[in-house]
Amino acid sequence: MMGIETKFKFKSKAASLLVGVSMLAISSTASGLETLPEDKSMSGMKIELVGRDDLWTYKSCDNYNESPLTKSYVDAGKLPPVNERMPKEPWMAKTDQMVDGIGEYGGTFRHVIGGRPEGFNWLAGQSQGWGGINIQLMESLTRLGPLWQIKPEEANPLPNLAKDWEWSSDRKSLTMNLIEGARWSDGDIFDTEDIDFWWNDNVQDANVASRLPKDALGAGTTLEILGPYSFKFNFDEPKGNAVLAQLAYMGGAPGPSHVMKPLHPAHNSDATYESYANGMPASVLPIVTLGAYVPVVHKVDELMVMKRNPYYWKVDEECNQLPYYNETIYKLTSWDDRTTQALAGTGDFSNMENPGNYVEALKQNKDPNSPVKSVFGTRLIAWDLMMNLSSDFGVSSDYERELRQLFRNVEFRKAISHAMDRDTMGQSVARGPFFHPHAGGFVAGSPFHNFEDSIYYGYNASGANSILDGLGLKDSDGNGIRNLPNGGADLVIDILHSSTRSTDIKLADAAVSMFEAIGIKPVLKPSDNTDAFTDNGNWSMFIAREHWVVATKNIGDRLPTTTQNPAWHRDNGGDLLPFEETLVEKAKGILATNDLSEVASLARDIQRVRTENVYTVGLIQAPAALLINKRIKNNHPGAPVYMYEWAEDGVMRERLYTPKADQLDEFLPGVLAEYK
Ligand code: GLA
Repeated sequence: MMGIETKFKFKSKAASLLVGVSMLAISSTASGLETLPEDKSMSGMKIELVGRDDLWTYKSCDNYNESPLTKSYVDAGKLPPVNERMPKEPWMAKTDQMVDGIGEYGGTFRHVIGGRPEGFNWLAGQSQGWGGINIQLMESLTRLGPLWQIKPEEANPLPNLAKDWEWSSDRKSLTMNLIEGARWSDGDIFDTEDIDFWWNDNVQDANVASRLPKDALGAGTTLEILGPYSFKFNFDEPKGNAVLAQLAYMGGAPGPSHVMKPLHPAHNSDATYESYANGMPASVLPIVTLGAYVPVVHKVDELMVMKRNPYYWKVDEECNQLPYYNETIYKLTSWDDRTTQALAGTGDFSNMENPGNYVEALKQNKDPNSPVKSVFGTRLIAWDLMMNLSSDFGVSSDYERELRQLFRNVEFRKAISHAMDRDTMGQSVARGPFFHPHAGGFVAGSPFHNFEDSIYYGYNASGANSILDGLGLKDSDGNGIRNLPNGGADLVIDILHSSTRSTDIKLADAAVSMFEAIGIKPVLKPSDNTDAFTDNGNWSMFIAREHWVVATKNIGDRLPTTTQNPAWHRDNGGDLLPFEETLVEKAKGILATNDLSEVASLARDIQRVRTENVYTVGLIQAPAALLINKRIKNNHPGAPVYMYEWAEDGVMRERLYTPKADQLDEFLPGVLAEYK
């Protein structure tokens, strides 16, 4: 049932030779193409990816079950019976993919966040405080978060409020069908009136700061309402499934038109755009949502209490209305406090993103009584050493110009990769089994990564030295530092890095002796605003966090699809390297296709070309850990902190529960949102 293999499996022949040996200790030859050693994940766990129809479906039941809390409201005559509150075919979670199975009703789920609610009018771009509140309130047409669990060839945006859709054969129109008969938390029907209002009075109205920009689906896109539950987008040009990704959280979240339309200037002559934007203030509760919980109490800088939505349109396979918890609370403190409280057991959830915290978290894992289990799943964060590949951009001397030519030489980039002792680097950041070498490009946890595609020039200082000798970079003046060819200047190279991120500082410090070992003198350049340097091109080498997870999502940041990107090759109009031209061609293929197996195959080509040519020098990659209190069930242990969306979406909170005996008392027992 769990879809998890506990055994460590090897995929490639090269990797199988490394069984039982510390992989980081393996040295690499300076010639021949080796691939990155297969990852030995910290949990030894592999996730079996599933099909896009395995997580949920849309299906009706003859009768529905509900929580004792909503039942008490029905009995008191304050709510219609549950059968009347459900849509025609509710969204139905499949039990096979719920790691602990069907849940139990009751209890509270405790979030801790650093944000604060600005207001609840998400149609006008207001934030509700992040950390999972927005995600809980802004149900969207499509959904991305759970895609981390889906096979890459099926990983198109998932249905949510839109239960299905169809492209016209010329891909110039997209017809979407909404779930039928779902209701807002006050009982009003959700239908295309809400879609019409969202699109025409918010997205298309330049006076409203909508999350979805006006032309996000292409200039000239129009909306045609076809009926109460179906509508069509008409496009000027053929489009692909990238459009559907724009309609997920946060771009595709309709708001309650029956509440907001009367407050909008187009429908109310007394209203202004400002009064409209603030039309659902954080101080006036409850609000109306399609989400699983409704905010009912907000104590400024202290707490937000959200109670279950009696009209929630999702169920499990036994026809129990979701969610299982009666309540979600959000303590309003700081992001650091989120991790502290999760480790202390006073909070239930944290995205732990900084490896400096990992040792403490792991210690706790050994204590059977610790409140939280840190699940280090796949490796999704990584650090790279980048070399500035622009021939001229930001260059201020002849020496720098010569350096850039060196950086543009793949042999030099290989030598730098061979100089990097990733094992030592990893241990300098945090002692323990947190790191794996990285070859650049897709991280090991990416569904688009295969070890056999990552060409890896691993640690081999003498190999690095012979490559540099071969490039004519000799120490011609006998001062221990190599010189540029023909008795040129000493090879002294600046290394830019962040002065505020502890991991980046430690990596740069560790790199110093590795550069010295190959006769290059590094000069560290810490900065609290590294963007300023990468924006103006005035840097040589740069150590920073750089991790690519989803091929369709961040392609423009990673490959030179525009003349301004990526950060390590800006102003690339006239000087793309031949392998970069190949990368651009592959990237264009990804953007134009609707065939995910083609995306996956192009991503594999990209990874091979990118790593073979050492586009960036991958250093180390680490898992981030999701901290979820042990009382919480149905938390898939492989859920990433971030992949297609934050974990708050990826773990599918609507399916989480705590068995009766372990449930915590509710902050507001016996209460539901009530509307006048
Ligand atoms: C903030 C947090 C993230 C995540 C998101 C969810 O950005 O820093 O870890 O919780 O909110 O929106």
